[in-house]
Amino acid sequence: MTTRLVTSALPYANGPIHLGHMVEHVQTDIHVRFLRATGDEVTWICAADAHGTPIEVNAGKAGVAPADFAERYRAEQARTFRAFGIGHDTYYTTHSPENQAWAYRVYDALKARGLIYKRSVEQLYCERDARFLPDRFVKGTCPKCGAEGQYGDVCEVCGTTYDPRELRAPACALCGSAPVVRTSDHAYVDLRRPEVSGVVRAWVEAEGHLEPAVRQQVKGWLDDLQDWCITRDAPYFGFPVKDPDFPGKFLYVWVDAPIGYLSSGEHHFAAEVEPSRRLAPADFEARYLAPGAPTRLEHFIGKDILRFHAVFWPAMLWAAGLKLPDRMAVHGHLTVNGEKMSKSRGTFINASTYLEAGLDPELLRYYFAASLGAGVSDLDLSLEEFRNRINADLANNVANLASRVAALLLRTPGRATTAAPDPEVAAAIRAALPAARAAYHELQYREVVRLVSQVASVCNRRVQETRPWEAPDGPAARAVLVTIGEALCGLALMLGPIMPVFAGKLAAAFGQAAPRVWTEALDPIDGAGVEVATKPPQIARLEASQVERLVGGGGASRSAPRASPGEGAARATARPAAEPVFGVIQYEDFARVELRVGLVRSAEPVPKADKLLRLSVDVGEPEARTIVAGIAQAYPDPGALVGLRIVVVANLAPRPLRGITSQGMLLAAGEPPALRVVTVDPGVAPGARVK
Ligand code: MSP
Ligand code: ZN
Repeated sequence: MTTRLVTSALPYANGPIHLGHMVEHVQTDIHVRFLRATGDEVTWICAADAHGTPIEVNAGKAGVAPADFAERYRAEQARTFRAFGIGHDTYYTTHSPENQAWAYRVYDALKARGLIYKRSVEQLYCERDARFLPDRFVKGTCPKCGAEGQYGDVCEVCGTTYDPRELRAPACALCGSAPVVRTSDHAYVDLRRPEVSGVVRAWVEAEGHLEPAVRQQVKGWLDDLQDWCITRDAPYFGFPVKDPDFPGKFLYVWVDAPIGYLSSGEHHFAAEVEPSRRLAPADFEARYLAPGAPTRLEHFIGKDILRFHAVFWPAMLWAAGLKLPDRMAVHGHLTVNGEKMSKSRGTFINASTYLEAGLDPELLRYYFAASLGAGVSDLDLSLEEFRNRINADLANNVANLASRVAALLLRTPGRATTAAPDPEVAAAIRAALPAARAAYHELQYREVVRLVSQVASVCNRRVQETRPWEAPDGPAARAVLVTIGEALCGLALMLGPIMPVFAGKLAAAFGQAAPRVWTEALDPIDGAGVEVATKPPQIARLEASQVERLVGGGGASRSAPRASPGEGAARATARPAAEPVFGVIQYEDFARVELRVGLVRSAEPVPKADKLLRLSVDVGEPEARTIVAGIAQAYPDPGALVGLRIVVVANLAPRPLRGITSQGMLLAAGEPPALRVVTVDPGVAPGARVK
């Protein structure tokens, strides 16, 4: 058992939680739930980041004090997270007395080590607003490419980064007036000093802290280390600097933000846990933060805030005499339909919009899990893929299997056991569980999702092969059904961190009330059998119209850029829904089917069989094949079939029909009389493989 302190980045208390934030909190939540399922003791710390210029400015516009403004969003954010099943142990704030005390302690430690020095800096200043303008509060023309309306730090058109003073025709983003250049004295941290840079470099290079690709990037920054400015001028919302060397200055938000991890943890153990588990601040520090503390400190962050966490944060921790993080998991950004989330395109999706669309949060958790690996690559919320994945993996493959198997088991009530578990199902789930454990440890959630689908597909295939509905009470059918029931409990364990509610219901449906501890040795096919206690949880298929509600305020036209003209959401839902797809297969299953193009040479009715036609079909072999097909009612004039290129299942075992051996099967779609054989373009030669 390992004791861990886990954190997610602290969202700015400057707006609601959006689906981009949600990626990180879903990723962390899955990690925490998995570890707890294995018996680890995990405390998950989060908080709202209350400080900085944007919050101070927006609070002013709203006519409220910054602290009240931040608190409103903090409370709203906490509610949103709860609605998505995100189980932070605390969601505190960086604007707290604990955080202020910690921030001073870190500042004083940096100062005591002689790492803080004063530098006079020139910055853009707006005389009308009486404030220095941070990069994002200046707009102007890019000095490199001439693009207008660019921020003070980077041109979004050509990608050049620059100093705000280099912008041409700069204007204050608040009032539009032209800023002037003013100087001001600021505190800098001397990160180049070898005692600090050496510590940071050693931390970055040590195995296990960062993914290799991330480590490379951070090493690049270390090779070109810049000192770090940690103060800001008034007006500012933050902690005032107490150092007489820097009168009237405030601590930069990025100083006290990560310190918020520590102070929120301290607050949690001092005030939020049940009395028997309470820890005084000194005990919290000794237990969790001191060098050599018997716990792991794990951070989850997005790639945009890596430099703060991988360069500045270890330096701060070291200066304050605290342990450095044990792992920093960095994720990429969420895009929507392949593009950056954008308010103007209607693809900036707030978490509340998702809830208002009536969508189950666990479906999004599943989709994110299916998209998440350990790396920093971006993930895309394609509305079409979201719907397809939920429908294919969850509705058709897992949930449908559970309800079919439960219904068949229920024919004989009570606990069902078997002495002869189905070997294929047993092997599949026995192999999948340890593989999923390893994948969870590696943050390879998409591998877990793949394993779940694979096991469910094996189960579905065994149902099709053994046909337990023909004699559900017989021992052979019971053996298959019981094994699948046990495998479903194993799948519930695998899915538990991702979809806790669904997984809990799934296990409960098969008579497993208490959650199991996921030990290495756990065998889901343990002879205990299953007892269908409740109806297994259903997953309703998602309709296009439901997911379209996520974007563009419900407008269907601009939300589906990949759909061809006329294929809007309105048409998709007006059509009668197709039958649910059952029994999802893996590619290997499909690849076993040999489909060939066949040229129809002749077609004639079969005597005394009014539904059958007898066809002679050239599938590229020396002799044409005879195929008997039940398509007579759809083709009253069989001659119409002659000359068509159709699709034949070429490796189907021959079987006699009305005394004629049919050497294959043809593909057709629709119901008679609107049934039609599947045809292929005349450019394709008979015998060509369809794949
Ligand atoms: N307040 C700082 C973090 C301080 S941590 C000591 C901050 N806040 S944020 O609200 O802008 O972002 C919070 C987290 O959400 C970051 O890890 C960020 O990477 C993540 N995301 C914000 N937008 C995102 C996407 N579109 N996609 C994925 N995650 C992104 O930065
Ligand atoms: Zn101004």
